[in-house]
Amino acid sequence: MRRRVVAVALLAAVLLVAAACKAEEPPPPVPPTPGEATGLDGAAILQEKCTVCHTLERIDAAEYDDVGWAQVIDRMIEKGADVSTDEAAALAEHLSLR
Ligand code: HEC
Repeated sequence: MRRRVVAVALLAAVLLVAAACKAEEPPPPVPPTPGEATGLDGAAILQEKCTVCHTLERIDAAEYDDVGWAQVIDRMIEKGADVSTDEAAALAEHLSLR
């Protein structure tokens, strides 16, 4: 009888420790959204950096998804657009969601 009580107490202790360990596990990381992570204003960057060589009309006429815009922006950077990696991410997000 006494043995059984000890066994039950041990089991309870093991379960408690297991529960405590589980509670300490960090929550899974939330994948970042482009643009949200940079906190940059894509619309402002567009006005400032993308109207140097051509007007916004050229950009308004184009329709791409985020990957397509990232490729266009890369091409513009090759041509000489002064856009950082973070600015390019914010721009691609802004342009694909407008
Ligand atoms: C250094 C000059 C320059 C800057 C700055 C520039 N562009 Fe361009 N862009 C061009 C030239 C030249 C063309 C025409 C040739 C071509 O399409 O590759 C063009 C064409 C385009 C086109 C039409 C062609 C297509 O692929 O749809 C889009 C859209 C465009 N640019 C977007 C942008 C965006 C967005 C930015 C800001 C990141 C930007 N451009 C900044 C030079 C520039």
